[in-house]
Amino acid sequence: MAGELSPIDKAKFVAAKRAAQFVEDGMRVGLGTGSTAAWLVRCLGEMVRDDGLRIKGVPTSTRTAQLAREVGIEVISLDEAKWLDLTIDGADEFDGELNLIKGGGGALLQEKIVATASDQMVVIADIGKEVETLGAFPLPVEVIPFGWQTTQALVEETLISMDVLGRTSTLRMNGDIPFVTDEGNYILDLHLNRIGNARQLSLVMNQMPGVVENGLFIDICDAVVIGYGDGRVEVRDINEGTVDRDRLDFVETDNLFSDLSD
Ligand code: A5P
Repeated sequence: MAGELSPIDKAKFVAAKRAAQFVEDGMRVGLGTGSTAAWLVRCLGEMVRDDGLRIKGVPTSTRTAQLAREVGIEVISLDEAKWLDLTIDGADEFDGELNLIKGGGGALLQEKIVATASDQMVVIADIGKEVETLGAFPLPVEVIPFGWQTTQALVEETLISMDVLGRTSTLRMNGDIPFVTDEGNYILDLHLNRIGNARQLSLVMNQMPGVVENGLFIDICDAVVIGYGDGRVEVRDINEGTVDRDRLDFVETDNLFSDLSD
């Protein structure tokens, strides 16, 4: 139950709970992937069940789709939705301009497609995700399996001319075998330590044959909801230039806390 949650999990929960207030009846909502986004999906499921909220959810991974169905959210594909009112998702890092690194959970491709097809993207994160400069978190780059080692060599060679501090990369593994994304691809994690020009790096990465997408989300996020372990939340809106502060209680309900699996 909530009392047993770590401060980071409490921070993720209050960020998700606050972000759920952005969701209005009738909306088509992109549902992110990861432990913070899972809290959001549970919160929305509770609103569907208890408050009669009617939404259609477009999940960004098979595991989010499964959770959304479990909690009672109507799930549709992006092609059925065509365009979304709002996407709410987690992040691995965010900077002062709300540029992001995403993909720690391996769902960056669908996440970027869904977020880009939304009127608004709201990121939910604990305060530990905020950075001055992106890059301490390894940058995930999704590559097709064919010739992935050649692609990796090309990526590392290209990094020599980029404004980054580290230039090594590793193939993401799932035990003894490569991790495979929902789209059947591999992920290279780039250990860059510091990314001086994220916009340039993102453009250059995506020009390489074999690279499907990278985890830099530039000019996509509109607002971030930051959670703290003591229940405080901060909403920063980059378009409005506003910062709202609030404090949420941990309200334990069997529905919300009984199905913890992330
Ligand atoms: C999933 O591929 C990622 O982009 C997640 O959004 C990101 O890794 C954040 O995950 P957590 O909420 O679990 O930290």
